[in-house]
Amino acid sequence: MSAAARARVAVLASGGGSNLGALLAFLAERGAGRAADVVLVAGDRAGAGAFERAATCRIATHHLADPADGAGMRAQFEAYGVDLVVLAGYLKHVPDAVTRAYAGRMLNVHPSLLPAFGGPGMYGARVHRAVLAAGACVSGATVHFVDDAYDRGPIAAQWPVPVRANDTPESLAARVLRVEHLLLPRAVEAVAAGRVRVGADGRVHSPYEPADVPFTLPPSATDDDVASALDAALRA
Ligand code: GRF
Repeated sequence: MSAAARARVAVLASGGGSNLGALLAFLAERGAGRAADVVLVAGDRAGAGAFERAATCRIATHHLADPADGAGMRAQFEAYGVDLVVLAGYLKHVPDAVTRAYAGRMLNVHPSLLPAFGGPGMYGARVHRAVLAAGACVSGATVHFVDDAYDRGPIAAQWPVPVRANDTPESLAARVLRVEHLLLPRAVEAVAAGRVRVGADGRVHSPYEPADVPFTLPPSATDDDVASALDAALRA
C-alpha cells in the first residue's frame, strides 16, 4: 500500500506508551503492506515514556498544554493530516468537538471486556481490582470507537483473558496488557484498512464473527496463538 494511501494516525498517550510501542513494532513488521503510519504522538505529560518512544522513531510529538482545548487539538490533527486517532493510555477526556469531528475515526484501548468495568475513574489498577473484587472469572482487553462518554462507544474488537485464583491486580494487569499489545495494533490496522467500521446505523461492521473466534484457546496458548487467531478473526 503506498504511503499516500495509508491512514495517517495520531496517538494520544499519558503514560509509558507500551501500547504505542506495540503499534509501532506491528506496523514496522507489516512493512510496505501496512495500512497506517503513526505521524504524531500527543499527550498531556511532556515527560511521558510515550514521547520518548516517538522521539526514538523520529515521530513528531506535541504537548497538549491544555487537554480541554478542542480547537487546538483539532488544529494539530489537521496540520498533520490525521485520518485516525488512537487513545493509548490517554487519561484526559477528549473534548466533544474533537470526538464529533473524528466520529468513527477515534479508537481507545481499555483493559477489560467493556461494557463491564469501564466508565469514569475506571483505569489502570482500579479496573483489575474491580474485576477481582467482583469475582469475575474472565477479563480481557477491548478496542472501541470513542464517543463523548468514557469507554462507551461501539466495540471494534475484544479478546478474553482468564482470571486465575491467585491473581493480584498486578498479575492480571500484566496478562491483560500483553493481550492489549496484540489486539490494539490489529484493530487499528483493520479500521485503517476499512475492514472494521461504524455504519450509518451506529453499529460496528466487521469481519470479526464471534462464532468463528476460537475464544476457547487453552491457558497454554502463546502470544503467537492469540496473534494468529486475531489475524484470522480480523481477516488480516
Ligand atoms: C493500558 O492498560 C490501556 O488499557 C489503558 O492505559 C494503559 C496504557 O498503558 N488505557 P501504556 O501507556 O500503553 O503502557
